[in-house]
Amino acid sequence: MKRREFLQTTAGAASGMLLVKSGVAFGYQANSAVRLGLLGCGSRGTHVATSFSQNTTAQVVALADLFPDQLEAGRAHFNQVNAGLSRAAIDAKLLFHGPHAFEQLAASPDVDLIQISTPPFFHVQHLEAAVAGGKHVYCEKPVGIDVRQARQALEIAKRVRPTQSVDVGFQCRSAPPIAAIAEKIKAGALGQIASITAHYFAPASQEKVFPGASPDEFRLRNWLWDRALSGDILVEQNIHIIDLCNWLLGARPLKATTTGGRNILKHAGDCWDNYQVDFTYPGDVHVSFSSTQFGDYKIFDAGLRLFGAAGCASVPYAGPVQIVGAQAWAWQDSMATAAGSGKFAANGGFEDNLAFADRDKERTFIDSIVSGPPHNQIAAGVETALSCMLGRMAGYQRRETTWDDLLAHGETYTLGMDLNQFA
Ligand SMILES: NC(=O)c1ccc[n+]([C@@H]2O[C@H](COP(=O)([O-])OP(=O)(O)OC[C@H]3O[C@@H](n4cnc5c(N)ncnc54)[C@H](O)[C@@H]3O)[C@@H](O)[C@H]2O)c1
Repeated sequence: MKRREFLQTTAGAASGMLLVKSGVAFGYQANSAVRLGLLGCGSRGTHVATSFSQNTTAQVVALADLFPDQLEAGRAHFNQVNAGLSRAAIDAKLLFHGPHAFEQLAASPDVDLIQISTPPFFHVQHLEAAVAGGKHVYCEKPVGIDVRQARQALEIAKRVRPTQSVDVGFQCRSAPPIAAIAEKIKAGALGQIASITAHYFAPASQEKVFPGASPDEFRLRNWLWDRALSGDILVEQNIHIIDLCNWLLGARPLKATTTGGRNILKHAGDCWDNYQVDFTYPGDVHVSFSSTQFGDYKIFDAGLRLFGAAGCASVPYAGPVQIVGAQAWAWQDSMATAAGSGKFAANGGFEDNLAFADRDKERTFIDSIVSGPPHNQIAAGVETALSCMLGRMAGYQRRETTWDDLLAHGETYTLGMDLNQFA
């Protein structure tokens, strides 16, 4: 199938704008802008909010960030984006910075939707404020970096009102080739699935240099390398692939054994740079996952292969998306590309098979706000985050770890600093 054909057959996902009902739905005039407040004006936040602006009726009207320089960069960027779309510049009263910026944004009557793009440690705290403020929420993954945060998020999920819509940033599910092959897999094209091999081989991240930064500020600016702030690479980055495993299997792992460590990286931080995880899912389905995050030799390769009694499905970020076997199928636009030929994008704005992932996810989400039905993806987001925590715990403790072990004895992280120093 070609992308064009798929888009035509999945009107709900791809053309949410056309589905807006006339009149008022969920408090919005159809065709009026959904007023978006971006919390965390960094790399991913800027990319996604720009994409919301360009691909949906959402309009960035407010910004919040811990650091004034990040807020200022966001203001300059979005004033330019808004001007290009003949929209107003951001009102100065809707620019918030400091440790309470998230609460000020959540309390603002001028914001309908909060996009949470802060480091993972803060997601659940920020989700709580946004939901309590009655906002729609687009929350980046992971929903929680430890079991305590995961439980807190599940409580927040119960407080989401019937008119609020909450999405979690697993945009890969919305990529047209991946959505299409998922439909085939879920309809049984592979027969009984026995096993999956999956991987996420990423280059090293760049250190962000801020002369004169205190150790606490350095940690916050380079949160990716810090276990408490990021959850480690399995929970922060590799989670996209584990999410696809859970989604395609319709299940979560029962137990895990893991090896891995910090073999190459020497810079500050305590995250591992490689993981090898063996997950066991219900029905004795085995998932073998490996990842690396180091090196500047331009290797980037992420994806999975599912092996079933009747066929094998390949689901890479770049390269052929196809099923071989009894019900052979291919996403034609991907067939000329080589597996692993993709380019890494630190802001998640990938090309190749993920080229339209953000756009289609955002359209579907805005459609859920404007014309319903609303989403509540918190519990599903928590389940994937916990699946990654399971693999992480098995690695840190160097023993087979079950889901029940994780819930009973999973690690708990504290920030170890007072954010009021940045007031
Ligand atoms: N879905 C994807 O493909 C994808 C890709 C990249 C990043 N992400 C996620 O997006 C989030 C942001 O990542 P990034 O790469 O943009 O990081 P970043 O460091 O570029 O941006 C984070 C921003 O949050 C601000 N911030 C930090 N602590 C804050 C606080 N307590 N209150 C308010 N603002 C705070 C920072 O000043 C910074 O501007 C992370 O959760 C990451 O896992 C997702």
